[in-house]
Amino acid sequence: MNRRTFLALSALSGAAGTAGLAAGCGSDAEHHLAPPPLDLSTPLRIPPLLHPAPEPDGVRRYELIMFVGQSALLPGKPTTTWGFNGSYLGPTLRASRGDKVAMTVRNALPEASTVHWHGMRLPAAMDGGPHQLIPAGTRWTPTWTVDQPAATTWYHPHPHGATSQHVYRGLAGLFLIDDDQDAELPTAYGTDDIPLILQDKKLTDRGQLDGDPLKGPFGILGDRILVNGTYNPCFAVTTTRVRLRLLNASNARMYHLAFTDRRRFHLIGTDGGLLTAPVDTDTLDLTPGERAEILVEFAPGDNVVLRTLDRGLDIATGDLDLIRFVAAADLRPAPEPPAILPGPAPIVPPDGARVRHFTLSGRDGINGRPMDMSRIDEVVPVNAVEIWEIENSTDTSHNFHIHEVAFQVLDAAGRPTGGHKDTVFTPARTTVRLAVRFGPFDDPVEPYMYHCHLLRHEDAGMMGQFVTITPGTEHAVPRSYAGVGHAH
Ligand code: C2O
Ligand code: CU
Repeated sequence: MNRRTFLALSALSGAAGTAGLAAGCGSDAEHHLAPPPLDLSTPLRIPPLLHPAPEPDGVRRYELIMFVGQSALLPGKPTTTWGFNGSYLGPTLRASRGDKVAMTVRNALPEASTVHWHGMRLPAAMDGGPHQLIPAGTRWTPTWTVDQPAATTWYHPHPHGATSQHVYRGLAGLFLIDDDQDAELPTAYGTDDIPLILQDKKLTDRGQLDGDPLKGPFGILGDRILVNGTYNPCFAVTTTRVRLRLLNASNARMYHLAFTDRRRFHLIGTDGGLLTAPVDTDTLDLTPGERAEILVEFAPGDNVVLRTLDRGLDIATGDLDLIRFVAAADLRPAPEPPAILPGPAPIVPPDGARVRHFTLSGRDGINGRPMDMSRIDEVVPVNAVEIWEIENSTDTSHNFHIHEVAFQVLDAAGRPTGGHKDTVFTPARTTVRLAVRFGPFDDPVEPYMYHCHLLRHEDAGMMGQFVTITPGTEHAVPRSYAGVGHAH
C-alpha cells in the first residue's frame, strides 16, 4: 500500500466561512480562539464501508493500517491527525452474526499501539487491550467468529497510558454487526442508516489539535465539535425516517442530545444492540464509549439542528450545535417504526448471583488500587451472570466499561431497565448495579479490562483486569504477569 495515497487529504474539506480565524499575523505562537458561530453547512462525511465478501474458506478478511496523515478539519488548515486507512477516523466495518472475521492491523505509527474491539464478544487474546501491543512497524492478525445480536460497536487503540492521545488524534471507527432480524429498520448505510461519531476538539487558530489530553481533571473538553470528522456539518435527508447510530468517541465530554425544535424520536438500541421495543423520548444522554440508535421522522423541507445541552455537570458543559438536518422537498417514504424490536431478552441475575463491589476512588483507581498490568484483579467463571456494583465515591463524573460482556442496568429493586449495554454513566456519589453476563471464552492468562471510559482517567489507572476461566482451573491464572510474553 502506498503511504502517499493515505497522506492525500481525505474528503474532509469544506467551504464554511473562516471569519474570526485569521488571527496570528505571521506569528508562530499557537493561539486558541473561541470558535466563530456555525452555519452547519458542510456536507457530513460518511466513513467508507469496509465489508469484504467472504473468501472461499468462508472468512471475511479486513485490512486496517494506522498511520499519521493530514486532514482539513478546519477549512483550508491542514491538521496533523492519525487514522485507519485514511487520515482521520477509520472505515465502518460490517459483519453479520455467524461470520468468521480475520483482521490484519498494520501499525505505521511512530509508536506502539493496539486496536480494541469495543462491544465485541470475543476471546481475550483477540480483544486488543493493552496486552495485545502492536509495536511500530509490525502487524497483528486477530480472528474470531461474530456471535452476538445486531449492534453498533466500535474500535479504537488501547495502549496503556496512551489511549487518550491515540484516540484524540483520530483513531476510532465503527463496527456494525447485522443479523437477519434487523430487517424492518432502515439499513441503507449513508442514506437512511447514518453513523454519527461525536467528538469534541480544541483546535488552535492554525488548525492543530490543541491541548494535552492528560491535563486537567478530565483531560480534553473541547469547544469544537466534529461529527464523523466533519466540522460544521449538515446532513441532507432524503427519506421520511432516518436511523441514526450515535457513538460518543470523545475523550471526556458527555452529550445531552436534543433537537432544536424538541421533536420526539424513538430510541431503538443501546450499546449491546436493539431494545425489545422502541422508547419515545426527546433527549438522550451519551457518555464516552456509549452508543445509541434512534429513529427520527422528517417532514419535507424540515431544517433542524441536533444539539447537546448543558446539564450543569462537569463533563456535560455548554450548549453546542452538533449537526444540521435539511430534508428534501420530496422524501421517499420509510416504513412505520416497528412496535416490537428483536433485541435480546433482559439479563436477569439468578438467585444467589455473586456480587462484586467496585469503588471508583479518583487517584487511587478502583478499589484503592491503580491499574497494574501484571495483576489480575478478578477471576470470573465462564458464562457467569454476576451482579457488579459500581460505586462512584468521588465528587466528579465517571463511567464504567467492561470488555467482552453484555450487562443490564438494574433499578433500586433489582429489576432490569433498558437494553443491553457495555458502558454506563456513574454520576458523582452514586452506585449503579449491573447484571453482567460473561462470555464462554476460557483463558486463564489473557485478561480483559474494566475501566472508566473518560480516557484521561483510564490512562491514569482507573482500570482493572479480569480473566474468565472454567471453574476448577484457578491454579492456571498467573500470580503475576512479570515475564509473561504478550508481544504478538
Ligand atoms: Cu472502549 Cu477498554 O475500551
Ligand atoms: Cu473517570
